Amino acid sequence: MTWTEAVVVSHLLMTPDITVIDLAPDEGTEFPAYTAGAHFPAYTAGAHIDVQTDSGPLRQYSLCGPPENGHYRLAVLNEPGSRGGSRAMHALKVGDRLQISAPRNRFSLVTARRHLLFAGGIGITPLLAMTHQLDAEGGDYTLHYCARSRTHTAFVPELTDNPRAAFHFDDEGPAQMLDMARDLGEPQPDTAVYVCGPAGFIDHVLGKAEAMGWPPQVLHKERFSNDRAAAQRDADGSGGFTIRLASTGAECLVPGGSSVLDILLENGVDAPHSCQLGICGECVVRVLAGDPDHRDDVLTSGERAEGMFATCSSRALSATLDLDL
Ligand code: FES
Repeated sequence: MTWTEAVVVSHLLMTPDITVIDLAPDEGTEFPAYTAGAHFPAYTAGAHIDVQTDSGPLRQYSLCGPPENGHYRLAVLNEPGSRGGSRAMHALKVGDRLQISAPRNRFSLVTARRHLLFAGGIGITPLLAMTHQLDAEGGDYTLHYCARSRTHTAFVPELTDNPRAAFHFDDEGPAQMLDMARDLGEPQPDTAVYVCGPAGFIDHVLGKAEAMGWPPQVLHKERFSNDRAAAQRDADGSGGFTIRLASTGAECLVPGGSSVLDILLENGVDAPHSCQLGICGECVVRVLAGDPDHRDDVLTSGERAEGMFATCSSRALSATLDLDL
């Protein structure tokens, strides 16, 4: 992965547990001179970057600012149970430096007449960028933003005057709570649905949508975690399977408890990867032969049918998998 040096130019505690951080290119001179005119490459709504601080683990954050302003804006929830990435991000100060990847996007807006956006808590971040892009393009959308309470919700002032945004707070009246029959309704032609937030929220929205007859190809999601893949991998006591690399013919055993990616890296293969949670798509390779056991939460059924395979989280039902590596 290619890293770019970035510098924190704004660090604002927006709620008791959400910090909004603006990053600019690090031009290596003293603050604030290096910020003048420095722009990161543009990105499309739904994109995320990898972030590496000195003290925290590698993490992925969606870009939520206006895509054209040249800085990258992140909103970070301080999660006490996390691996330390959010604490490290909250501890940053203006002028601190960190490393970021180029933006990648597996949660883009698709071509549709209408877009229905469902955000749960900090899942607002990619969807906020989508509202910016759709506003700029004159797109038709409605944003449903669900959260615990007004005081724990980021970007309330920014969205309050937006007639296309509806808030749903757990601690306010029942009439304003999310009602999927009302807020999603029956399938509509040429309409795309996007959902981002905690796993339970995503599962709720997608489950209701599927029950109401929305076809899977118009439902788009982005997860922040994949507890199922991690739990399955940790609990996997099987005898493992063998991977065979097309480029060299080399064979490696993948024992229970190790991922294909772990074994590739251990054997010196320069295998692409990022989240290692089955949610970013960076590690995906093609399976040339064998029967994959897909455990990622990023590939579509169409991509799986084409032989795509997430090495960080998926395994094999067959004794051997041939990989296009
Ligand atoms: S590294 Fe992110 S899906 Fe595998």
